[in-house]
Amino acid sequence: MSPAHSHTFRPFRIAVLASGRGSNLAALIAARAAGRLPVELVGVFSDRAGAGALEIARAHGIPALALSPKDSADRTAFDESLFSRIAAVQPDLIVCAGYMRLISEAAVRRFAGRMINIHPSLLPKYPGLHTHARAIAAGEREHGASVHYVIPALDAGPVIAQARVPVLDGDTPETLAGRVLEREHPLLVASVRWIAEGRVRQAGAAVALDGRPLPAPLLLGPDQELHPPCESSTA
Ligand code: GAR
Repeated sequence: MSPAHSHTFRPFRIAVLASGRGSNLAALIAARAAGRLPVELVGVFSDRAGAGALEIARAHGIPALALSPKDSADRTAFDESLFSRIAAVQPDLIVCAGYMRLISEAAVRRFAGRMINIHPSLLPKYPGLHTHARAIAAGEREHGASVHYVIPALDAGPVIAQARVPVLDGDTPETLAGRVLEREHPLLVASVRWIAEGRVRQAGAAVALDGRPLPAPLLLGPDQELHPPCESSTA
């Protein structure tokens, strides 16, 4: 291999943070394998050694690392060691895909504009936990998922894109979670693709699409693609 020079194509580098199952990670891996996501997955990181996401990563030859919060004095110290490992793989973007720990302000600031999260609600509704149960209890007829830039306040960063699903009579938190999860996968894949292509970026408290502030989040269509919010919509 010849040494890299300034015009060498450098693939967009993604690091994933996950605490659990890893179905969103699996969706990113599958999209990449199918040629639908031009990125390199450079590392998967977890706060739980037993996370399914780590197994999925290893099965695909992606470096995987778990650090236990118990080995650090406090959140700041844990995040310092975790995020310096992440920095070492030089990600262009960190994707929180089912990462269930609060992230310290210092770590968020270090990666400002370069860290996104997928959250199972139509933010700003239902930040935090138990989103499906809360949506059902509130009598919502619509629920969904959001991909947003991470800022120090929990689940409060600028929203890039959303997928909406109906809440049906008789839904339980589990049936609703399943309907949302099915849409999370294409939502995350498309959001990461638009960021990797340079179309989407964080612009302060807003999201910019092709250099212009987005008035409302992009919407995932039935075609599994993102669409700008319809300006003429009166719905
Ligand atoms: C997903 O539903 C994701 O939106 C949610 O955890 C699940 C992870 O599933 N994230 C949060 O609740 C973040 N607060 P996965 O491990 O199969 O990707």
